[in-house]
Amino acid sequence: MRLDVVTIFGEYLQPLQLSLIGRARQQGLLDVRVHDLREHTHDRHRTVDSPPYGGGAGLLMRPEPWGEALDAVLADPPPGAGADGPVLLVPSPVGEVFTQAAAVELAAEPWLVFACGRYEGIDARVVEHYASRVRVREVSLGDYVLNGGEVAVLVVVEAVARLLPGVVGNAASLEQESHAAEHDGLLEHPAYTKPASWRGLEVPAVLASGHHAQVERWRRDESLRRTARRRPDLLRTLPPAACDAADLAVLATEGFVPGDAGGFRPGPAPVAD
Ligand code: ADE
Repeated sequence: MRLDVVTIFGEYLQPLQLSLIGRARQQGLLDVRVHDLREHTHDRHRTVDSPPYGGGAGLLMRPEPWGEALDAVLADPPPGAGADGPVLLVPSPVGEVFTQAAAVELAAEPWLVFACGRYEGIDARVVEHYASRVRVREVSLGDYVLNGGEVAVLVVVEAVARLLPGVVGNAASLEQESHAAEHDGLLEHPAYTKPASWRGLEVPAVLASGHHAQVERWRRDESLRRTARRRPDLLRTLPPAACDAADLAVLATEGFVPGDAGGFRPGPAPVAD
């Protein structure tokens, strides 16, 4: 997979040399190219910003350096890129929230280009223009404001790259994680390793029992409970058809019942006897 990142802070992307991503690059699984936006300025001060039309605080990034920089990237496609060109990802707090589902979609692409905004963002015509040439996705990490897109690029690249064959050693570990489809979009259960007793805290006995079915039941219960308590929004899309009687019982205890439109909704609390 080819990844092009346009930024004014290339140093921010140095973590992409480390660990599994760094190894994947050395193995040729990832071809990461970082481009300095300022190379596409033509004034003495290498200016990339100016104040917003209409007034207001802060500075915006001007469109001309972005146009030149992105044109140069698009003019140099990797060998495997189809006629569709890359997906252009623009990190922004006003983008779609980046999810595991988006990571899975992007992992199927041969070529991703990232445009890292700084200041108050990039002149809106840049996204408008490139949306007529390539597939553009504005992506947000969540409901908070970062200083720029670089940290978001690190997050997206890590989430996407680890789905590529050969990047993470143990493929089975990918499937077990929170948010993986195999988990029905539930949070992962708690996990324990040695020692069996630590600072007075014991590993739940069932996990050392050797009863595979009981272990799986315990894990499923914990996943459901955790999700109900921490991320009840995820239960809205859990299909009741994917739940057995034991699942329904746990969810009812947590105060969730199947909804009319599929998924689960807060429902009648269990009657105490
Ligand atoms: N740039 C600034 N804030 C951001 C956010 N929440 N997600 C992605 N990119 C951003």
